[in-house]
Amino acid sequence: MRSRAPSETPPAPPIDPTTFTPQFRWRGGDLICERTSLAEIATRHGTPTYVYSRAAIEANYREYSAALRGLSATICYSVKANSNLSILRLLARYGSSFDIVSGGELYRLQQSEISPSRVVFSGVGKTREEIGEALRAGILLFNVESEAELEVLQDEAARLRKRAPVAIRVNPDVEAGGHRHIATGCHQHKFGLDWPAARRLYRTHRDSQWLNWKGISAHVGSQILDLKSLRRELERLVEFVGELRRDGIPLQCIDIGGGLGIRYAFEKPPSISQFAGIVTRALKPLGCHVLLEPGRSIVGPAGVLLTRVILTKVNRGKPFVVVDAGMNDFIRPALYSAVHPVTPIKRGKTRPKIIRADIVGPVCESGDCFLHDWPIEEVQEGDVLALWGAGAYGFVEASNYNARPRPAEILVSGIIAKIVRRRESRNDLVHGE
Ligand code: LLP
Repeated sequence: MRSRAPSETPPAPPIDPTTFTPQFRWRGGDLICERTSLAEIATRHGTPTYVYSRAAIEANYREYSAALRGLSATICYSVKANSNLSILRLLARYGSSFDIVSGGELYRLQQSEISPSRVVFSGVGKTREEIGEALRAGILLFNVESEAELEVLQDEAARLRKRAPVAIRVNPDVEAGGHRHIATGCHQHKFGLDWPAARRLYRTHRDSQWLNWKGISAHVGSQILDLKSLRRELERLVEFVGELRRDGIPLQCIDIGGGLGIRYAFEKPPSISQFAGIVTRALKPLGCHVLLEPGRSIVGPAGVLLTRVILTKVNRGKPFVVVDAGMNDFIRPALYSAVHPVTPIKRGKTRPKIIRADIVGPVCESGDCFLHDWPIEEVQEGDVLALWGAGAYGFVEASNYNARPRPAEILVSGIIAKIVRRRESRNDLVHGE
């Protein structure tokens, strides 16, 4: 996930993400999403604009559900990855349940008319109000991350006279995930409870009138490319369930979190089916219902961010391509040194000249750089570029920094490109002040 150092040899020719993102293809000289030209979208709707492929989201979701057929399992799409209402509705239609981390995400699901009975609530800092709200709504499961939270949950459940369905999120102390900011399952992280503390909570609250003990949960990290850490997590969980059973606490379900990584540029992630195969083999013998919380692997590859070249310049011999999207629109490169390829959405018949440039945004920070020393066709003012792998943790992490309105979001289905969130206006920028 680290950006390539300028001295490393760039791949030549530049990487073409259409080779691993099937719903985006070349039609002649035009890059298309399903059957819609990205150039047309940019002309009609402006830039920067997020574009998502409905078919890609469906294919990824269905790959999970098909590969998990042999297991009693529920896929709880992780809303934080992309919480656009149209995408939530789409996934609900395919049969997905949902993983949330805030009252705001619950509200988004309610606005999408999705039943709270399909909702799992994780998160290390749920407020009393959020817990009350979720109890009243009747969600499927609370993944509790501390003793203090369990006490509030119990209180609120008693006050509302509603038994709370609960699991404890354990911290299995497994190192996984692509960047230290997105690994979560190690003892030094804030998430979950270490095993002795979790076991103590299960035991002391075993007979609570207001807690309905359902299961155990974990999530070890995100952008996991190596199945070894997943296997270790699952082995630990299986051990824990065994210990609880011996303590007389039979659990019905086990929530393994999300985390499967995707290919952005050079990564070699396992496929969804391989991932599901490992989960099935490890957990089937337990006879528990399994919950999974994938986010990135469902929506990540389904989206691109379209951006237009404002200008090109050369500083002390170093070429820069300045585009109209900035770190406020898409923060993964600045925050995690993530490498997202950027390519033109048009190509000519002749071999283009390749330059190595920094692709940067207009925000007043040196960190506002999408790619360093990146091999790209020579481009000029007005050309539209696609930044790939932008479907997850893209728009949801956008801000108005530098008083920049957030981008539009478009959902493509075949030849239809629907605006699923309009571009923010200048008026939106001052709204509420
Ligand atoms: N479940 C829980 C409890 C989580 O904390 C997360 C992600 C997921 C599920 C979904 O994980 P996924 O399948 O998407 O890896 N902003 C970062 C990623 C942060 C992930 C936080 N938790 C990024 O852009 O890489």
